[in-house]
Formats: sequence, C-alpha cells, structure tokens
Amino acid sequence: MPTADQSEPGLLIPCQRHLFDIPDDVAYLNCAYISPLLLASRDAGHAGVTRKLRPWEISPSDFFTGAETGRGLFARLIGASPDDIALTPSASYGLSTAARNLPLGRGQAILLLQEQFPSNVYPWRELAKERGGEIVTLARPDDDDWTLTILEALNERVAIAALPHVHWTDGALIDLERVGRRCRQVGAALVVDGTQSVGALPFDVTAIQPDFLAVATYKWLLGPYGAGYLYVAPKWQDGIPLEHNWFHRKGSDNFATLVDYRDDYQPGARRFDVGERGSIHLVPMANAGLRQLLEWGVENIQKTIRARTDRIALRAADMGIGTLPGEQRAGHYLGLRFRGDSPEGLAGQLARERIYVSARGRSAMRVTPHLWVTDADEDRFFEALTTALYGSATP
Ligand SMILES: Cc1ncc(COP(=O)(O)O)c(C=O)c1O
Repeated sequence: MPTADQSEPGLLIPCQRHLFDIPDDVAYLNCAYISPLLLASRDAGHAGVTRKLRPWEISPSDFFTGAETGRGLFARLIGASPDDIALTPSASYGLSTAARNLPLGRGQAILLLQEQFPSNVYPWRELAKERGGEIVTLARPDDDDWTLTILEALNERVAIAALPHVHWTDGALIDLERVGRRCRQVGAALVVDGTQSVGALPFDVTAIQPDFLAVATYKWLLGPYGAGYLYVAPKWQDGIPLEHNWFHRKGSDNFATLVDYRDDYQPGARRFDVGERGSIHLVPMANAGLRQLLEWGVENIQKTIRARTDRIALRAADMGIGTLPGEQRAGHYLGLRFRGDSPEGLAGQLARERIYVSARGRSAMRVTPHLWVTDADEDRFFEALTTALYGSATP
C-alpha cells in the first residue's frame, strides 16, 4: 500500500480545524456525506443574506460579478477556461444537461457502474428510453479493478460512458486518463460525475478530456447545498440548455435592453447556467470554498488526507477489517469491509459518541476525513469501534 511519503506529489498540510466550527468532542469522518462549511463561507453567506435586507444596495452588476468569479475559480481548480464552466444547482442538473446534448442512436449503449449514484443513472435511463438505446451496467469486479473492467467494455457500440472518478460507496479509483483515451478511440463521449472527487483529488481536463464534468459543491468543494458546476467541452458549447432563462442571452447584463429579445447566447458554457445563478448568498459561499481549496492546493489536500486514511487502513487491518489496496482507492476515501456482519446500527452507535461515518449495509463502512480531523478524532474512532465490535476498548 503506498503511503504518503515525499515521492508523491504534494505537501502535508497541518490540521485546519481552526477554519471550521467543529466542537472538540466531534469526530467528523463523513465528508462524502456532506462537508462542514468553512467559517469564511458562513461569513460570506451571512454577508449575502444581509445584503438582501437592503435591496437598494444591490446593483445589477452583483448578479454577474460573483458568478463570473466562481466560474474562474472552478476553472482554475480543474485546469479549464472560465468560458467552459456553467453554474448549476446540483450534479443532477449538470448530468441532465449532458444527457440533453449528447447523441445516442438506436441500439447504442450507455456505460454505467453497478451501484453508481442515482444522479448519474436516471438521466441516462430516460435518454436510453427516449432514443431506443441500452444501459450497460458493469458489475463490480471481484478484484475491484474498475479501470480494466471499463476499458474492456468500451467498444464501438458505446456512445456514452457516464462514470465517476471515485466510486461513492468505497472510494474505488478509476483511471480516467486511460478511460478518456479509450473513449476517444471508440468514439464514445465521457461524462464524469466529480462530486466525490473534485476538490480533494486532482482533476485535469486537459489530461482526461471529458465531454462533461458535473460537480455538486456541498461535499469536497466545501460549498453550500444547492450549488454546482458543469464543465462543458468546447465542442458541446453550442448545445441546448435544460431551461431558457434571460441570463443566458447576449446583452443580459444591460437591464435597459432586456426586452429586446434575442436568440444569441452569452459566450461559452454560460447558456447552460441555471436560472438565478447569480444568487447573492450561495455564490459567495461557494466561492469562499473554492478559494480555500486553491490556497491549500488539491495535490496537497489529497496527500494529506491519504496520510490519514492510510493510517486508518493500517489500524483497521490490525483489527481484521479490510480496505481496498492503497493504489486502488482515492486517498481521501476509505471503505472499511468487515469480515462478517458488524453489529446492527454501528454507525448510529458511533454517532451517539459524536463520531460520524456512513454505514454501507452491515458489512461495510465509509470513512471520509478531511483536513479538520485530528489524531485525537482518529483515536476516538478506533476506541469506539473496538468497543462496539468487541464490547471493550481493547480487542
Ligand atoms: C457520486 C455522487 N454524485 C452526486 C451526488 C449528489 O447529487 P445531486 O447534486 O444531484 O443531489 C452525490 C451525493 O451523495 C454523490 O455521492
């Protein structure tokens, strides 16, 4: 299992708990469920809400500047141009936009993974139904090598591969550079749901070359609930938005000419923006999260969280609990696999001790720490887990 040594890119970041509002007795190891807001995001949101108390101080340009800043920040995070980014309310909105715009012929296939998150399943099921296509769902491979399984399944019949970078259930990592290359060889579009990876795991659009990448902000982007981003590759930027709103159209920043209705759009991916995307409270909150991630650096975040999850994996192994090998999982994610069933309600039992993880049935548990987690949190997790499994703090 690789450990976070100096041969990996990135630096170790010291604990950043002071930037959050997490009480000392809370061990929050559940970022994949929902992240805590940064204090800076709370302040930005509070300032935005406060502005709505005084609408006479809100100028038309305020609906544009925050949104444009967010586009630029997210673009920097993934190595794209701001023109390639649309502002969405959710991952599903972005993925539905992709489904609305990608061609699918009768009999052609859409590739999905077993137990993929539903936001990246339902839009494709609808599309397949509408066009006479077929959903091909790849079964979880026995050796957990999703990349190989996907590469083997990618043939000329596949029109769309709609995939995550990291499987949301256990952190299994997919080599999207190799998958992207194969997609281009067979003429399939690559659509990525980056909700469980972007912000914590480096994503480079120039290397992966996705057609679309959709991300919700409330997990690894440390943003609010109700906001997201959609990267749209330049070749799809003249597509059809899910909805038609006035912001999309050329000249929408000039309020005096709004009723000079026009057919042309704002440049790039802006035509895919959700209505009211310039929210004066959500946008500053999301932007504060992105600024912090860029300041830390995603490679450094990944390396630092991997050091933590590697330690947790080793301690779990001492208790006979399995995990995916280090090179097969993303560093920010851990799925603990119990040999048999764990005690019923294990996650609830831990939560009563203010230790938060996600249960995955009775035989698995998702542990997803971030930079706020301390060694004391980790120790408390293991003490509580040992007590829950063996009835005392020592096995
Ligand atoms: C992989 C993945 N995608 C997307 C989402 C959220 O989707 P949406 O923004 O459509 O609610 C989640 C939430 O758990 C997720 O795990």
